[in-house]
Amino acid sequence: MKAAITAIGGFLPDNIVTNFDFEKILDTTDEWITTRTGIKQRHIENDPAKATSDMGAKAVEELCKKRGISPEEIDLLIVATVTPDMVFPATANLICSKVGAKNAWGFDLGAACSGFIYGLATGAQFIETGRYKKVVIVGADMMSRIIDYTDRTTCVIFGDGAGAVLLEASKDDNGIQDFILHSDGNGAVHLHMKAGGSLLPPSHDTVNDRKHFVHQEGQAVFKHAVYNMAEVSAKMMEKSKLTANDITWLVPHQANKRIIEATSSRMGISTDKVMMNIEKYGNTTAGTLPLLLWDYEKRLKAGDNLILSAFGGGFTWGSMFIKWAYDGSKSGK
Ligand code: UT7
Repeated sequence: MKAAITAIGGFLPDNIVTNFDFEKILDTTDEWITTRTGIKQRHIENDPAKATSDMGAKAVEELCKKRGISPEEIDLLIVATVTPDMVFPATANLICSKVGAKNAWGFDLGAACSGFIYGLATGAQFIETGRYKKVVIVGADMMSRIIDYTDRTTCVIFGDGAGAVLLEASKDDNGIQDFILHSDGNGAVHLHMKAGGSLLPPSHDTVNDRKHFVHQEGQAVFKHAVYNMAEVSAKMMEKSKLTANDITWLVPHQANKRIIEATSSRMGISTDKVMMNIEKYGNTTAGTLPLLLWDYEKRLKAGDNLILSAFGGGFTWGSMFIKWAYDGSKSGK
């Protein structure tokens, strides 16, 4: 039995911050951001009362409505995030209570930008074994809450957003076919948040020293991302015996347009087969892949071959081969 995605929901905060807005507060230009990253704007939540669970709950509500199911039918809900509402309880628990998923249990999964693929791989096991009928995977990050807006190299790339998918048993051979996942803690030095955990609990010093923000050594992460995302995607193709012609869509993590181009070029895939929305949303971390599926849903058809790929903090990276299970044009957004 295969696990198939049968519905998608998404959510972006209303407030949009453009590159021109950054020109007013930072030593930067629209030209630099556009040519180095491909990003033109990002959505940033400006209501201090809102958190990651609010975005995730909206995405789950939309997904349930589109599939015509009650949240009470959800058995398990996994949230991939590095920006949970609180250290505990899990954001998954908060989303379940916000949407009324009374019969579900859930947990958070921390794999940064690869979190959504990790979540799909994990959730699929519960469907494939027949234990559960409906598993929801949420990829959600409110990156603006952990970004230092005086660090021009890092702050311009991130945005806020959430996407969610429903996994159910496939009626045919479509669905999740295979995946390759990796992690390497040696990469932590290049991309991390220094304080707030058990190693360096919050204190006046950690706040004064700006240690509660994303620390990213852009160039080092860039090199690892280009190599590993391209390599793991090419391996996924080989393992699945797919040529570039067989692939309908590459669904790559949206961190930098240049990383996406390097990945598609290594795979020999033309740009018209590459899902891309980085110019509108920036890097929403665990949100990028479900938000791509959400944006492109109407163009997806049953039997399409999708290769998902991601690279992020940890380091974590991976790729997944999905045979799409339904006609997206029939699922209204
Ligand atoms: O999703 C999680 C994984 N994260 C990633 O995959 C991100 C990977 N890294 C990147 O995407 C890129 O490294 C960045 C977009 C973060 C930075 O781009 P870059 O081309 O690697 O820039 P850089 O750090 O090498 O800086 C080049 C120059 C420097 O000036 P000098 O030293 O050459 O004079 C920077 O100070 O660009 C300068 N710079 C900027 N200039 C204008 C850095 N940020 C900016 C900026 N505006 N916002």
